[in-house]
Amino acid sequence: MLPPTIINLLYVAASILFILGLKKLSRADSARKGNLISAIGMLVAIVAALLTADILEPQWILLGLGLGSLIGVIAAFKVKMTSMPELVALFNGFGGIASLLVGWAEFIGFGQSSEKLSLVALFALICAVLIGAVTFSGSLIAWGKLAGIIGGKPMLFRGQKFVNILLLGGMLLAGYFILAGSLSSSFVYLTAEDAFFLLMGLSLLFGIMVVISIGGADMPVVISLLNSYSGIAACSAGFIISNNVLIVSGALVGASGIILTSIMCKAMNRSLSHVLFSGFGSGAGSSTQSKTEGESKPISSDDAFLVLEAANNVVFIPGYGMAVAQAQHAVKELADLLEQNGAEVNFAIHPVAGRMPGHMNVLLAEANVPYDQLKEMDEINPVIENADVAIVIGANDVVNPAAREDPGSPIYGMPVINVDKARTCFVLKRSMSAGFAGIENPLFYKDNTRMLFGDAKESLSHLVSEFNTQ
Ligand code: TAP
Repeated sequence: MLPPTIINLLYVAASILFILGLKKLSRADSARKGNLISAIGMLVAIVAALLTADILEPQWILLGLGLGSLIGVIAAFKVKMTSMPELVALFNGFGGIASLLVGWAEFIGFGQSSEKLSLVALFALICAVLIGAVTFSGSLIAWGKLAGIIGGKPMLFRGQKFVNILLLGGMLLAGYFILAGSLSSSFVYLTAEDAFFLLMGLSLLFGIMVVISIGGADMPVVISLLNSYSGIAACSAGFIISNNVLIVSGALVGASGIILTSIMCKAMNRSLSHVLFSGFGSGAGSSTQSKTEGESKPISSDDAFLVLEAANNVVFIPGYGMAVAQAQHAVKELADLLEQNGAEVNFAIHPVAGRMPGHMNVLLAEANVPYDQLKEMDEINPVIENADVAIVIGANDVVNPAAREDPGSPIYGMPVINVDKARTCFVLKRSMSAGFAGIENPLFYKDNTRMLFGDAKESLSHLVSEFNTQ
């Protein structure tokens, strides 16, 4: 309907909007604007793609946009903040299956036409199907793990690596048969069609195998990696159907996902090759984790208030429990009261706290915590000894000193926020139960730790009302 030059100009505009959006998404204070700019870019890209000759009449485009927006709006309002990470895992999976379906449709179309696909298009088709299928099945497993439907611990069995290598070999062979069968009609060992379905099946299985072997604290790495895979699959799909904006947006997602993966690897102190080629998450010596001894020391809200009233330097360390309790507004209220009382207040953010990258930043931004009070782990650890009180709000794995002290711990070597080095540490949680990694936390038994049991929001509200009644 529109001339190709106009369509390409719209694609360029969409790509620019994506890049600007990504730039703004990198800061909490401009992230909302970044999201909006990227969404407008996506709208331009979809409309431009559908307006290219012989795809769809405008009324169908409007109907699709309306339906899609309705589903998006309902999902955005209905999905609880604590379920966002599962939603993100599903989105990655949807990206993967969309690319797989593009590859499948093109493969069927190619089988029915007399024209041969070019070598580049065939190669892109194989990549889209392989990576798309791995992303789809892997993301479903990640979703199950995050939703607690599948156990968080790594599932390992004897010969797992060998099975994975066999699967990988089978996938590459199937890819070769697709190429050979498609380029030469006299190829007899396996038809291109059979090889296509073999590739799809093996890739789906490989995605499951890769993600079940990843456990506990290593999940952030796999989520960002799957995010990157979904981009690479989309980029490949763009090459198959020669759609420039799909190539550009896929490449942007793939590249930003890889950058995020490397940030997560750094946060977990894992190398990318270790992540890609071994059964990571199992930890060096998970079976020999030291038994934690001693007794925890509970504290009442009244006593905790007295300590806080005298404190000059307080650091909050939020974790997944803050998201569950929706305690971000109560934390901000307490932080304001502490400041009015003359204390210096900071928030220490661990890169993998919560269940998705930036989880804590999003919650604290929602509660209007000033950006300059948010300190990264590397910034806070050298000065945490100066803190009179470190208040751990529903965090567990990211403050576990076993990562530093116990070579037998599955999270040994992972950098954590050293809250045990503060003068006093309050841990706000409901029980002594473990965090996502499912391991004991010796912090709870340290001499300077006091456990403030209960729902984090209720405990904080209690402290706030104590300050207010003074
Ligand atoms: P966790 O280690 O998961 O600990 C959360 C703690 O919150 C639990 O021990 C729980 O104890 C407490 N809690 C739950 N509900 C609460 C409530 N209403 N009030 C007070 N406390 C509550 O959290 P973390 O320290 O943030 O660590 C994150 C973990 O998730 C890491 O292992 C990380 O690798 C993993 N992970 C992260 C990501 C990303 S990208 N961030 C993705 C996947 C997995 P009680 O039940 O006793 O209250």
